[in-house]
Amino acid sequence: MTITKICCIGAGYVGGPTCSVIAMQCPHIKVTVVDISKHRIAQWNSDKLPIYEPGLDNIVKQRRNVNLFFSNDVENAIKEADLVFISVNTPTKTFGVGKGRAADLTHVENCARIIAQVSTSNKIIVEKSTVPVRAAESILKILSANHKPNVKFQVLSNPEFLSEGVAVENLLNADRVLIGHEETADGFWAFKELSKVYLNWIPEEKILRTNTWSSELTKLAANAFLAQRISSINSMATICEETGADISEVARGIGLDSRIGSKFLQASVGFGGSCFTKDLLNLVYICEHLNIMQVAMYWQQVLDMNDYQKSRFSNKIIESLFNTVTGKKITMFGFAFKKDTGDTRESPAIHVAKTLLDEGAKLNIYDPKVEHEQIQRDLTHPYVTENPEAVMKSIEIHNDPYYATINTHAIVICTEWDEFIELDYKQIYRGMIKPAFIFDGRKILNHDNLTKIGFQVHTIGRR
Ligand code: NAD
Ligand code: UDX
Repeated sequence: MTITKICCIGAGYVGGPTCSVIAMQCPHIKVTVVDISKHRIAQWNSDKLPIYEPGLDNIVKQRRNVNLFFSNDVENAIKEADLVFISVNTPTKTFGVGKGRAADLTHVENCARIIAQVSTSNKIIVEKSTVPVRAAESILKILSANHKPNVKFQVLSNPEFLSEGVAVENLLNADRVLIGHEETADGFWAFKELSKVYLNWIPEEKILRTNTWSSELTKLAANAFLAQRISSINSMATICEETGADISEVARGIGLDSRIGSKFLQASVGFGGSCFTKDLLNLVYICEHLNIMQVAMYWQQVLDMNDYQKSRFSNKIIESLFNTVTGKKITMFGFAFKKDTGDTRESPAIHVAKTLLDEGAKLNIYDPKVEHEQIQRDLTHPYVTENPEAVMKSIEIHNDPYYATINTHAIVICTEWDEFIELDYKQIYRGMIKPAFIFDGRKILNHDNLTKIGFQVHTIGRR
């Protein structure tokens, strides 16, 4: 079998960009991305894609309706495909056993059932969603128990390592492509077939072959290690604030050690995004389930440190504003969990906003890419407030960063958007209530210049 038709179930932040890049690099393959959400598919087929990702619009424009298709016809796309990516969401469970920690595999399981039900030919099934170790076993069990006679499946693990905001770049120049397979001749054959797809643009030495369980665990391990670096540097930032050391200098000093490396040492208001928290919770749950409590506690601490960092930053704002923000207007610059994305999932900005709203502050919020309705949805969510009407009265969402600062007491930077560095802070200062404060939760501004202008500047990891 040579793969000529790919179906991807899940048209989200992973399925959409990944399949767009595959379609671009493999013009001989027909790629169909399907989703149960009519709205999402309509957006993929429109001029305004459902996600903002630099470089993606261009690729979709080139390949859409050529060899890249977005559809709600899940069944037919699976039926005609040689290879099916499962790229659906695997959120943290919100009820039942493992509530708040274990990964909810309902969507993955639904995919397995529908694949078994509609397939009339052999297929390679690729687990792209992030899953607990041995999830492929459950998928295979469901497929085996429900398939039609003479239809065979091979299940591969091929986790995705892209970062939002640089997804296209990451997909085009992946550090590695990891493929885990069953340790049988058929498993090896399936690995070879999927490799052939990637070999259209990924050098062979970057394709890593492991057994299925190593591949699944590698994804959780990679996210755990990355998150751990951020919590580690943030823990050092706390010491800096107490002692007069400067976290930027410390990060530079340790990052030059080639064994440590300089990436992912940016102290911040805390990490966000849809992956780190969810995948760490999943890892902790797996350890608890395996009864290796010391290991569970070790990784839990990475999450605890992140919560501590978010709270510390929010509390610092309140303390600095003379211990009360009740009735005070505060500008929030940035709402996305990082720059170059419109994604707000687990954004530290939500935590900061909630704390300030709980204390009675009024918020002017500006983010260059997050949809206004998304900010409203996030801040009126039951996890954030019991009184959504009051929240709606306390927030204003702005399209202009300058306008957002007029007559406010403070600016809080939650996302490191480049445009915040370029703003005219002299002009901004003139329009603000004095003393005017800036809380730079991303360490992106020139603090000496701001102090000269007259701002009271507070940041992370520096007294
Ligand atoms: P997402 O929520 O953006 O997209 C998932 C999509 O799957 C949704 O549009 C949903 O409607 C669809 N879906 C769910 N069940 C379906 C079904 N039965 N049939 C058809 N469609 C269905 O999620 P995402 O951010 O793309 O993440 C997907 C997976 O990839 C997760 O496991 C995540 O952990 C992992 N991952 C995400 C990232 C990232 O940066 N977002 C990076 C690496 C890995
Ligand atoms: C992450 C992983 O990097 C990626 O490999 C995986 O596939 C999905 O999860 P993502 O969440 O998109 O990607 O973004 P990432 O760049 O990892 O940033 C996550 C969070 O950490 C953001 O809130 C970011 O601002 C924060 N961060 C990152 C820091 O606070 N400091 C840093 O030095 C790096």
